[in-house]
Amino acid sequence: MRILMVCLGNICRSPMADGHLRKKVNDLKLAVIVDSAGTANYHVGEAPDKRMIATGAKFGTPIDELRARQFKVVDFDNFDLIYCMDSSNLSNVLSLARNEADCQKVRLLLNELEPNSNAAVPDPYYGTMQDFEYVYQLLDKATDCVIEKIKNGKIR
Ligand code: 4NP
Repeated sequence: MRILMVCLGNICRSPMADGHLRKKVNDLKLAVIVDSAGTANYHVGEAPDKRMIATGAKFGTPIDELRARQFKVVDFDNFDLIYCMDSSNLSNVLSLARNEADCQKVRLLLNELEPNSNAAVPDPYYGTMQDFEYVYQLLDKATDCVIEKIKNGKIR
């Protein structure tokens, strides 16, 4: 199983989702590869936003070694599931899909937590530290849900 987390800049939401899921699969010794990417190229090569790093550190999920990269078409081949943080990320990724099989891999992350809600992980970039903590808590719940589904064979 290979899972890619996608947001806009790959410096706030998706690196936290990536680092958090990575930590959980490692702790549980699950055979899952986790990575993240952004639909935009603004921050390619950069470490995550300092506020996201600080929030991860506060709750025990270090993400400082991750580096931003842009989503690319070959990611459809390299990953089984592509989880987007909001509907804008979703439509940007879907616009690059080559066929129906590519489209089937793309989902909104929070629909794992609340099916069909189409809820967004809100972009904290212009927000406060509270917004970053809220993102962390949402991603903690969503990644727990992904882990449960992987363990129960409900994510394929
Ligand atoms: P992310 O947040 O998509 O969660 O990484 C953002 C980071 C940077 C920008 C927007 C959102 N930006 O406009 O530079």
